[in-house]
Amino acid sequence: MKLILGPFSSLLMAVSAANALGLDAPPPDGWTPGETVTEGWQSQPGDPANFTLTLQAFDISQRSYALVAVVETSAGSVTFALPDVSTGEYVLNAVNATNATIVYAQSSSFYLP
Ligand SMILES: *[C@@H]1O[C@H](CO)[C@@H](O)[C@H](O)[C@H]1NC(C)=O
Ligand SMILES: *[C@@H]1O[C@H](CO)[C@@H](O)[C@H](O)[C@H]1NC(C)=O
Ligand SMILES: *[C@@H]1O[C@H](CO)[C@@H](O)[C@H](O)[C@H]1NC(C)=O
Repeated sequence: MKLILGPFSSLLMAVSAANALGLDAPPPDGWTPGETVTEGWQSQPGDPANFTLTLQAFDISQRSYALVAVVETSAGSVTFALPDVSTGEYVLNAVNATNATIVYAQSSSFYLP
């Protein structure tokens, strides 16, 4: 799915440039709220050992939902159920498990119907 750079992009949290962690883009045919999905990522030595995976509304609300509290970076992927969120654009964030303001990686934005 294409990355949509709108007026809200600057409102999203700054991603730490010090980390190489990269979240995969959701599949082109998209996801559905409530669906059980698998998200993968690429990591490099020096990346944090674990992180919290969150779903964040890509709009003025920036509402955030914790998806998986502690993900082991070495696992390479994690399976979880998407919450029943309202229609809109979202991003996935990998954030520090004890301080969500530290963002390691952010996926491209995607649409949930
Ligand atoms: C999360 O941030 C804290 C405070 O900066 C840091 O001490 C901790 O190591 C970080 N967690 C990971 C998994 O790197
Ligand atoms: C996450 O990683 C940090 C830094 O290595 C470590 O201190 C912490 O215990 C880990 N948390 C869990 C739940 O494994
Ligand atoms: C979380 O991290 C931010 C950015 O590094 C820092 O300014 C803030 O003090 C931290 N908060 C806590 C509760 O550690």
